Amino acid sequence: MAKEDSLRKLRREMEKVQDSRRFEHTLGVEFTAASLAMRYGASIKSARTAGLLHDCAKCLTDEERISICRKNGIPISEMEWKNPFLLHAKAGAFLAKKQYGIEDEDILNAICSHTTGRPGMSLLEMIVFVADYIEPGRNKASNLEEIRRLAFTELDQALLKILGDTLEYLESGSGDVDPMTRKTWEYYMEVGSLRHSPDARASAAPGSLPAGIKCRRCGGMRGNMEQNSMEMAKLAVKALEDKKAEDIRIIDISQVTVIADYFLIAGGNNRNQIQALCDNVEETLGRAGFFCRQKEGYDTANWILMDFGDVIVHIFDKENRLLYDLERIWRDGRQMNMEEFRREQA
Ligand SMILES: [Fe+2]
Ligand SMILES: [Fe+2]
Repeated sequence: MAKEDSLRKLRREMEKVQDSRRFEHTLGVEFTAASLAMRYGASIKSARTAGLLHDCAKCLTDEERISICRKNGIPISEMEWKNPFLLHAKAGAFLAKKQYGIEDEDILNAICSHTTGRPGMSLLEMIVFVADYIEPGRNKASNLEEIRRLAFTELDQALLKILGDTLEYLESGSGDVDPMTRKTWEYYMEVGSLRHSPDARASAAPGSLPAGIKCRRCGGMRGNMEQNSMEMAKLAVKALEDKKAEDIRIIDISQVTVIADYFLIAGGNNRNQIQALCDNVEETLGRAGFFCRQKEGYDTANWILMDFGDVIVHIFDKENRLLYDLERIWRDGRQMNMEEFRREQA
Protein backbone atom coordinates (compact mmCIF):
# COMPACT_ATOMS: atom_id res chain seq x y z
CA MET A 1 0.00 0.00 0.00
CA ALA A 2 1.26 3.46 -0.83
CA LYS A 3 2.85 5.41 2.03
CA GLU A 4 2.23 9.11 2.59
CA ASP A 5 5.26 10.19 0.49
CA SER A 6 4.22 7.76 -2.24
CA LEU A 7 0.90 9.57 -2.40
CA ARG A 8 2.70 12.86 -2.88
CA LYS A 9 4.80 11.27 -5.61
CA LEU A 10 1.71 9.88 -7.35
CA ARG A 11 0.08 13.29 -7.18
CA ARG A 12 3.11 14.85 -8.86
CA GLU A 13 3.07 12.13 -11.53
CA MET A 14 -0.60 12.75 -12.27
CA GLU A 15 0.00 16.48 -12.50
CA LYS A 16 2.59 15.73 -15.20
CA VAL A 17 0.47 13.38 -17.32
CA GLN A 18 -2.95 15.01 -16.95
CA ASP A 19 -4.21 18.33 -18.26
CA SER A 20 -5.20 20.83 -15.57
CA ARG A 21 -8.94 20.06 -15.75
CA ARG A 22 -8.39 16.32 -15.42
CA PHE A 23 -5.87 16.82 -12.63
CA GLU A 24 -8.33 18.93 -10.68
CA HIS A 25 -10.92 16.15 -11.11
CA THR A 26 -8.34 13.61 -9.91
CA LEU A 27 -7.69 15.62 -6.74
CA GLY A 28 -11.45 15.86 -6.22
CA VAL A 29 -11.81 12.09 -6.48
CA GLU A 30 -8.85 11.54 -4.12
CA PHE A 31 -10.40 13.87 -1.54
CA THR A 32 -13.93 12.45 -1.89
CA ALA A 33 -12.76 8.83 -1.82
CA ALA A 34 -10.77 9.59 1.36
CA SER A 35 -13.84 11.17 2.96
CA LEU A 36 -16.01 8.17 2.09
CA ALA A 37 -13.31 5.81 3.36
CA MET A 38 -13.37 7.67 6.70
CA ARG A 39 -17.13 7.42 6.78
CA TYR A 40 -17.29 3.68 6.06
CA GLY A 41 -14.11 2.50 7.75
CA ALA A 42 -12.18 1.60 4.58
CA SER A 43 -8.46 2.19 4.17
CA ILE A 44 -7.95 5.92 3.61
CA LYS A 45 -4.60 5.40 1.90
CA SER A 46 -6.05 2.83 -0.50
CA ALA A 47 -8.93 5.18 -1.28
CA ARG A 48 -6.55 8.10 -1.93
CA THR A 49 -4.28 5.94 -4.07
CA ALA A 50 -7.15 4.60 -6.18
CA GLY A 51 -8.64 8.11 -6.42
CA LEU A 52 -5.33 9.53 -7.63
CA LEU A 53 -4.78 6.80 -10.21
CA HIS A 54 -8.29 6.04 -11.42
CA ASP A 55 -7.94 8.22 -14.52
CA CYS A 56 -4.20 7.73 -15.06
CA ALA A 57 -4.89 6.43 -18.60
CA LYS A 58 -7.47 9.08 -19.42
CA CYS A 59 -5.05 11.40 -21.18
CA LEU A 60 -3.69 8.70 -23.49
CA THR A 61 -4.95 8.52 -27.05
CA ASP A 62 -7.46 5.84 -28.06
CA GLU A 63 -4.69 4.15 -30.05
CA GLU A 64 -2.41 4.06 -27.02
CA ARG A 65 -5.13 2.56 -24.84
CA ILE A 66 -5.97 -0.08 -27.44
CA SER A 67 -2.29 -0.85 -27.87
CA ILE A 68 -1.75 -1.32 -24.09
CA CYS A 69 -4.66 -3.74 -23.97
CA ARG A 70 -3.69 -5.69 -27.08
CA LYS A 71 -0.02 -6.02 -26.11
CA ASN A 72 -0.86 -7.22 -22.63
CA GLY A 73 -3.69 -9.62 -23.36
CA ILE A 74 -6.37 -7.41 -21.83
CA PRO A 75 -9.66 -8.32 -23.52
CA ILE A 76 -11.44 -5.56 -25.43
CA SER A 77 -15.22 -5.87 -25.67
CA GLU A 78 -17.27 -4.92 -28.70
CA MET A 79 -18.44 -1.83 -26.85
CA GLU A 80 -14.86 -0.85 -26.02
CA TRP A 81 -13.76 -1.21 -29.65
CA LYS A 82 -16.58 1.14 -30.53
CA ASN A 83 -15.81 3.56 -27.67
CA PRO A 84 -12.10 3.15 -26.88
CA PHE A 85 -12.17 5.91 -24.25
CA LEU A 86 -13.91 3.31 -22.05
CA LEU A 87 -10.63 1.41 -22.02
CA HIS A 88 -9.05 4.05 -19.79
CA ALA A 89 -10.28 2.05 -16.79
CA LYS A 90 -8.69 -1.27 -17.81
CA ALA A 91 -5.57 0.39 -19.22
CA GLY A 92 -5.41 2.54 -16.08
CA ALA A 93 -5.38 -0.51 -13.81
CA PHE A 94 -2.59 -1.96 -15.93
CA LEU A 95 -0.52 1.24 -15.74
CA ALA A 96 -1.18 1.55 -12.01
CA LYS A 97 0.50 -1.80 -11.55
CA LYS A 98 3.30 -1.63 -14.10
CA GLN A 99 4.16 2.05 -14.09
CA TYR A 100 3.16 3.21 -10.61
CA GLY A 101 3.97 0.03 -8.68
CA ILE A 102 0.56 -0.67 -7.15
CA GLU A 103 0.24 -4.32 -6.13
CA ASP A 104 -2.93 -4.14 -4.04
CA GLU A 105 -5.58 -6.00 -6.03
CA ASP A 106 -8.41 -4.08 -4.39
CA ILE A 107 -6.95 -0.77 -5.58
CA LEU A 108 -6.38 -2.18 -9.08
CA ASN A 109 -9.96 -3.49 -9.18
CA ALA A 110 -11.28 -0.11 -8.04
CA ILE A 111 -9.49 1.57 -10.95
CA CYS A 112 -10.64 -1.10 -13.39
CA SER A 113 -14.31 -0.94 -12.38
CA HIS A 114 -14.65 2.83 -11.94
CA THR A 115 -16.53 3.48 -15.20
CA THR A 116 -19.13 0.70 -15.25
CA GLY A 117 -18.95 -0.88 -11.83
CA ARG A 118 -19.32 -4.64 -11.67
CA PRO A 119 -21.40 -7.14 -9.72
CA GLY A 120 -20.07 -7.79 -6.22
CA MET A 121 -17.86 -4.72 -5.87
CA SER A 122 -15.74 -4.36 -2.75
CA LEU A 123 -16.24 -1.42 -0.42
CA LEU A 124 -13.22 0.34 -1.94
CA GLU A 125 -14.54 -0.19 -5.47
CA MET A 126 -17.89 1.30 -4.50
CA ILE A 127 -16.18 4.25 -2.83
CA VAL A 128 -14.08 5.09 -5.90
CA PHE A 129 -17.01 4.60 -8.29
CA VAL A 130 -19.21 6.94 -6.25
CA ALA A 131 -16.40 9.45 -5.58
CA ASP A 132 -15.76 9.73 -9.33
CA TYR A 133 -19.37 10.76 -9.83
CA ILE A 134 -19.86 13.14 -6.92
CA GLU A 135 -16.47 14.83 -6.41
CA PRO A 136 -16.84 18.58 -5.79
CA GLY A 137 -15.86 19.59 -9.34
CA ARG A 138 -18.78 17.69 -10.90
CA ASN A 139 -21.79 19.84 -11.63
CA LYS A 140 -23.59 18.46 -14.68
CA ALA A 141 -25.28 15.24 -13.57
CA SER A 142 -28.87 15.40 -12.41
CA ASN A 143 -29.75 14.48 -8.84
CA LEU A 144 -26.21 15.29 -7.67
CA GLU A 145 -27.40 16.82 -4.42
CA GLU A 146 -29.43 13.73 -3.54
CA ILE A 147 -26.64 11.35 -4.57
CA ARG A 148 -24.06 13.30 -2.54
CA ARG A 149 -26.28 13.01 0.52
CA LEU A 150 -26.94 9.31 -0.08
CA ALA A 151 -23.22 8.64 -0.57
CA PHE A 152 -22.56 9.50 3.06
CA THR A 153 -25.60 7.73 4.49
CA GLU A 154 -26.17 4.64 2.31
CA LEU A 155 -23.34 3.97 -0.11
CA ASP A 156 -25.02 1.13 -2.01
CA GLN A 157 -28.10 3.28 -2.58
CA ALA A 158 -25.89 6.03 -4.01
CA LEU A 159 -24.25 3.48 -6.29
CA LEU A 160 -27.61 2.21 -7.48
CA LYS A 161 -28.89 5.71 -8.12
CA ILE A 162 -25.78 6.60 -10.15
CA LEU A 163 -26.12 3.44 -12.23
CA GLY A 164 -29.85 4.06 -12.77
CA ASP A 165 -29.32 7.69 -13.75
CA THR A 166 -26.46 6.74 -16.08
CA LEU A 167 -28.59 4.12 -17.83
CA GLU A 168 -31.48 6.53 -18.15
CA TYR A 169 -29.19 9.20 -19.60
CA LEU A 170 -27.53 6.84 -22.09
CA GLU A 171 -30.78 5.19 -23.10
CA SER A 172 -32.30 8.56 -23.87
CA GLY A 173 -29.93 8.65 -26.83
CA SER A 174 -26.92 10.35 -25.30
CA GLY A 175 -24.52 7.43 -25.81
CA ASP A 176 -23.99 3.68 -25.95
CA VAL A 177 -24.80 1.62 -22.90
CA ASP A 178 -21.95 -0.62 -21.80
CA PRO A 179 -23.55 -4.00 -20.98
CA MET A 180 -21.48 -4.10 -17.78
CA THR A 181 -23.25 -0.95 -16.51
CA ARG A 182 -26.60 -2.69 -16.98
CA LYS A 183 -25.32 -5.92 -15.45
CA THR A 184 -24.05 -4.03 -12.40
CA TRP A 185 -27.33 -2.16 -12.05
CA GLU A 186 -29.32 -5.41 -12.28
CA TYR A 187 -27.08 -7.05 -9.71
CA TYR A 188 -27.51 -4.25 -7.18
CA MET A 189 -31.24 -4.08 -7.82
CA GLU A 190 -31.38 -7.79 -7.05
CA VAL A 191 -29.26 -7.45 -3.91
CA GLY A 192 -31.29 -4.42 -2.83
CA SER A 193 -34.59 -6.15 -3.40
CA LEU A 194 -33.45 -9.21 -1.46
CA ARG A 195 -32.26 -7.01 1.35
CA HIS A 196 -35.20 -4.74 1.54
CA SER A 197 -38.40 -6.11 0.06
CA PRO A 198 -39.42 -9.13 -1.97
CA ASP A 199 -41.61 -7.05 -4.24
CA ALA A 200 -39.22 -4.20 -4.75
CA ARG A 201 -37.89 -5.22 -8.13
CA ALA A 202 -41.29 -5.45 -9.79
CA SER A 203 -41.76 -1.71 -9.63
CA ALA A 204 -38.17 -0.82 -10.43
CA ALA A 205 -37.08 1.29 -13.36
CA PRO A 206 -33.70 2.78 -14.24
CA GLY A 207 -33.23 6.09 -12.51
CA SER A 208 -35.88 5.60 -9.89
CA LEU A 209 -35.54 3.58 -6.73
CA PRO A 210 -38.42 1.17 -6.19
CA ALA A 211 -40.71 1.95 -3.30
CA GLY A 212 -39.50 -0.97 -1.19
CA ILE A 213 -35.79 -0.35 -1.49
CA LYS A 214 -35.57 2.65 0.81
CA CYS A 215 -34.27 1.69 4.19
CA ARG A 216 -34.59 3.23 7.59
CA ARG A 217 -31.26 4.97 7.15
CA CYS A 218 -32.82 7.15 4.51
CA GLY A 219 -36.39 6.73 5.80
CA GLY A 220 -38.96 3.99 5.35
CA MET A 221 -39.51 0.21 5.10
CA ARG A 222 -38.43 -0.40 8.68
CA GLY A 223 -40.50 -3.57 9.05
CA ASN A 224 -38.77 -5.52 6.30
CA MET A 225 -35.35 -4.37 7.42
CA GLU A 226 -35.89 -5.54 10.99
CA GLN A 227 -37.23 -8.89 9.88
CA ASN A 228 -34.37 -9.41 7.47
CA SER A 229 -31.65 -8.54 9.93
CA MET A 230 -33.14 -10.73 12.67
CA GLU A 231 -33.54 -13.57 10.17
CA MET A 232 -29.93 -13.15 9.05
CA ALA A 233 -28.69 -13.06 12.63
CA LYS A 234 -30.60 -16.23 13.48
CA LEU A 235 -29.24 -18.08 10.47
CA ALA A 236 -25.70 -16.92 11.14
CA VAL A 237 -25.91 -18.02 14.79
CA LYS A 238 -27.18 -21.43 13.70
CA ALA A 239 -24.36 -21.74 11.14
CA LEU A 240 -21.78 -20.80 13.79
CA GLU A 241 -23.23 -23.25 16.31
CA ASP A 242 -23.27 -26.06 13.76
CA LYS A 243 -19.50 -25.70 13.41
CA LYS A 244 -18.99 -25.43 17.15
CA ALA A 245 -18.05 -21.77 17.40
CA GLU A 246 -16.94 -20.62 20.83
CA ASP A 247 -18.64 -17.97 22.95
CA ILE A 248 -21.05 -16.52 20.40
CA ARG A 249 -22.13 -12.98 21.28
CA ILE A 250 -24.75 -10.84 19.65
CA ILE A 251 -24.67 -7.07 19.95
CA ASP A 252 -27.73 -5.13 18.85
CA ILE A 253 -26.17 -1.91 17.58
CA SER A 254 -29.22 -0.61 15.74
CA GLN A 255 -29.75 2.20 18.24
CA VAL A 256 -26.16 3.40 18.34
CA THR A 257 -24.96 3.38 14.73
CA VAL A 258 -26.16 3.26 11.12
CA ILE A 259 -23.46 0.70 10.20
CA ALA A 260 -25.68 -2.33 10.81
CA ASP A 261 -28.31 -3.80 13.11
CA TYR A 262 -26.31 -6.65 14.64
CA PHE A 263 -22.72 -7.57 15.27
CA LEU A 264 -22.14 -11.27 15.76
CA ILE A 265 -18.88 -12.20 17.43
CA ALA A 266 -17.61 -15.75 17.66
CA GLY A 267 -14.35 -17.58 18.23
CA GLY A 268 -12.57 -20.50 16.63
CA ASN A 269 -9.64 -22.59 17.82
CA ASN A 270 -7.55 -22.73 14.69
CA ARG A 271 -7.36 -21.60 11.07
CA ASN A 272 -9.32 -24.58 9.72
CA GLN A 273 -12.18 -24.14 12.16
CA ILE A 274 -12.30 -20.36 11.68
CA GLN A 275 -12.49 -20.76 7.90
CA ALA A 276 -15.10 -23.52 8.25
CA LEU A 277 -17.21 -21.20 10.43
CA CYS A 278 -16.93 -18.48 7.81
CA ASP A 279 -17.78 -20.88 4.95
CA ASN A 280 -20.80 -22.20 6.80
CA VAL A 281 -22.14 -18.73 7.58
CA GLU A 282 -21.69 -17.64 3.97
CA GLU A 283 -23.32 -20.79 2.59
CA THR A 284 -26.23 -20.77 5.04
CA LEU A 285 -27.07 -17.11 4.51
CA GLY A 286 -26.46 -17.39 0.77
CA ARG A 287 -29.02 -20.19 0.51
CA ALA A 288 -31.55 -17.85 2.11
CA GLY A 289 -30.72 -15.10 -0.38
CA PHE A 290 -28.50 -12.99 1.88
CA PHE A 291 -25.21 -12.34 0.21
CA CYS A 292 -21.90 -11.45 1.77
CA ARG A 293 -21.00 -8.00 0.46
CA GLN A 294 -17.48 -8.00 1.77
CA LYS A 295 -15.25 -10.53 3.41
CA GLU A 296 -11.87 -9.74 4.91
CA GLY A 297 -9.16 -11.75 6.58
CA TYR A 298 -10.11 -15.19 5.25
CA ASP A 299 -6.60 -16.32 4.32
CA THR A 300 -4.89 -15.46 7.56
CA ALA A 301 -8.02 -16.36 9.57
CA ASN A 302 -7.00 -14.36 12.66
CA TRP A 303 -10.06 -12.16 12.36
CA ILE A 304 -12.54 -12.76 9.56
CA LEU A 305 -15.06 -10.00 9.00
CA MET A 306 -18.17 -10.75 6.94
CA ASP A 307 -20.45 -7.89 5.97
CA PHE A 308 -24.02 -8.90 5.16
CA GLY A 309 -25.29 -5.33 5.25
CA ASP A 310 -27.45 -5.27 8.35
CA VAL A 311 -25.53 -8.05 10.04
CA ILE A 312 -21.77 -8.08 10.43
CA VAL A 313 -20.10 -11.29 11.54
CA HIS A 314 -16.69 -11.29 13.21
CA ILE A 315 -14.87 -14.59 13.73
CA PHE A 316 -11.72 -14.37 15.80
CA ASP A 317 -8.93 -16.59 16.99
CA LYS A 318 -8.34 -16.43 20.74
CA GLU A 319 -5.49 -13.93 20.66
CA ASN A 320 -7.23 -11.41 18.42
CA ARG A 321 -10.56 -11.69 20.20
CA LEU A 322 -8.88 -10.59 23.41
CA LEU A 323 -6.82 -7.97 21.64
CA TYR A 324 -9.65 -6.22 19.81
CA ASP A 325 -12.31 -6.81 22.47
CA LEU A 326 -15.22 -5.67 20.28
CA GLU A 327 -17.66 -6.24 23.11
CA ARG A 328 -15.93 -3.41 24.99
CA ILE A 329 -15.72 -1.14 21.95
CA TRP A 330 -19.45 -1.62 21.28
CA ARG A 331 -20.51 -1.49 24.91
CA ASP A 332 -23.13 1.13 24.02
CA GLY A 333 -24.96 -1.53 22.02
CA ARG A 334 -27.31 -4.05 23.62
CA GLN A 335 -25.22 -7.15 24.30
CA MET A 336 -26.90 -10.52 24.32
CA ASN A 337 -25.55 -13.95 25.11
CA MET A 338 -27.18 -16.94 23.46
CA GLU A 339 -29.80 -17.40 26.17
CA GLU A 340 -30.96 -13.82 25.87
CA PHE A 341 -30.96 -14.03 22.09
CA ARG A 342 -33.14 -17.14 22.17
CA ARG A 343 -35.51 -15.51 24.64
CA GLU A 344 -35.69 -12.56 22.24
CA GLN A 345 -36.75 -14.85 19.41
CA ALA A 346 -39.33 -16.74 21.48
FE1 LIG B 1 -12.62 7.74 -15.58
FE1 LIG C 1 -12.76 10.16 -13.28
